[in-house]
Amino acid sequence: MNKISTAAVAATVAAFAANAGIDVVPRPAEVVEKEGFCHIVRNVGKAEVTDRVKYVTDPAIPKEGYRLSVKESGITVASSDAAGKFYAIETLKQLARSEKLGIVVPCVEIKDAPRYPWRGVHLDECRHFFGKEVVKGILDKMAKYKLNRFHWHLTEDQGWRIDVPGYPELVKYGAVRPESPKPGFHVSKPGKGNRDKMDHTPYGPFFYTEKDLREIVAYAAERHIQVVPEIELPGHVYAALAAYPEFACKPENLSRRQPRTVWGIEPDVLCIGNDKAVKFMEDVLDYVCKVFPGDVIHIGGDECPSVRWKDCPKCKARMAANGIKSEKDLQPWITRHFVDFLAKRGRRTIGWDEYLIGDIPKNAMGMSWRVPKKGRNVVTGAAAAERGHDVVMSPGNACYLDKAQGLKDDKYQYIGGNIPLSVCYGFDPSAGVSAKAAKHILGGQGNNWTEYTWGREDLEWKMWPRMLALAEVFWLGEKKPGFDDFKRRAAVHRETLKKAGVNCAPLE
Ligand code: ACM
Ligand code: ZN
Repeated sequence: MNKISTAAVAATVAAFAANAGIDVVPRPAEVVEKEGFCHIVRNVGKAEVTDRVKYVTDPAIPKEGYRLSVKESGITVASSDAAGKFYAIETLKQLARSEKLGIVVPCVEIKDAPRYPWRGVHLDECRHFFGKEVVKGILDKMAKYKLNRFHWHLTEDQGWRIDVPGYPELVKYGAVRPESPKPGFHVSKPGKGNRDKMDHTPYGPFFYTEKDLREIVAYAAERHIQVVPEIELPGHVYAALAAYPEFACKPENLSRRQPRTVWGIEPDVLCIGNDKAVKFMEDVLDYVCKVFPGDVIHIGGDECPSVRWKDCPKCKARMAANGIKSEKDLQPWITRHFVDFLAKRGRRTIGWDEYLIGDIPKNAMGMSWRVPKKGRNVVTGAAAAERGHDVVMSPGNACYLDKAQGLKDDKYQYIGGNIPLSVCYGFDPSAGVSAKAAKHILGGQGNNWTEYTWGREDLEWKMWPRMLALAEVFWLGEKKPGFDDFKRRAAVHRETLKKAGVNCAPLE
């Protein structure tokens, strides 16, 4: 064994003492700190590691969980699955807490397992496109903080980001928009009055090839992260309609063959009465099932106006053929169709909470984002869980990272409203859920919508440190130790992130 310098050990001991305890984020569920240190020679970052770490399998340990015993004589990692072993090593890396890993680890006994199986991060690559390197950077940090679902928002009104075989026009027309709102402006209505708020600059073409998608899926899998691709339907499809106007109720509205250039809600949506439009979405989802091996596929379902369906002969014929009385009920019809379509391919469907309105089968999973207010028909996450749907909680008042943290003199642009760090940390995904329905709350997710986010720098500022808080909420649930304790540990991580070049905001 190499000799470790007394100075290095002394420095690490002093750092731990100054820090009053271990600073792991998310804090492990059970920690007993002990006297002394274990000296490790080789890098614990490499999975099969050192001469002093022993790995054992214990089937009694829950999924993704682990036990970690650090003694002066050596380290034992026990887990029942590969994810648990991976997370034990991530904890070890944080405990070593040195740029040069493999120096010393404080003696400690840890018993750890996640409270929730879904610990997600979402990224909208349609309003703005970030590319593979930024995505890999997010996945690296997700792994470090034991986050395990990457929800990839790949299709939208303003951009279509995957190249689907058999539909070449999708990226030809859908992956480039002729202009966008200028930074500093909020533009959600097309109109002559807004010309000076537009940048008059083409954006794109930006899209991922199948090779790119597979590369990200593999990169994520190495980090025990499942990629959950989102294909929006029946709303938020304007970029696809720019490519194939015949799939709209009013193709003439798409004669310019351009994605939507402003933000906000688009009235032109998929024509549900058109069998070819439905077949198009089936082909897209078949392709998505081929490229993404995870068990869950997201089909959007949010913010879909029904105005075009009301007067469309094809949509009216669909309603008549299926005994549908209101055009609003075309959305549950198409949702049922795709939940069934994906189930036949061995996949579960998840969608934003709007798609749970109406007669929807219990195997449809919900992603709760809307906060109830007067006049809004919202199936809350709690209500959906009571009905028997599995639910992921990502409410707009705790998990939307496109809202400001509320920092003084913040130079970045936000969508409106504040979510301070303490609010993220105070979030409880299971609040208001009965004991009977509790098992249906699968976890939570931080969402990065990007109308007002242009690149890595502003994206990171919005994500960090708030995603640290959410990571701890999703890992520990009700067992989280309190905001002051979190802040002490998060301060260490903020410094580590900054040293690694991450544009991490202050802890406020
Ligand atoms: C959403 O924020 N429209 C899901
Ligand atoms: Zn129609």
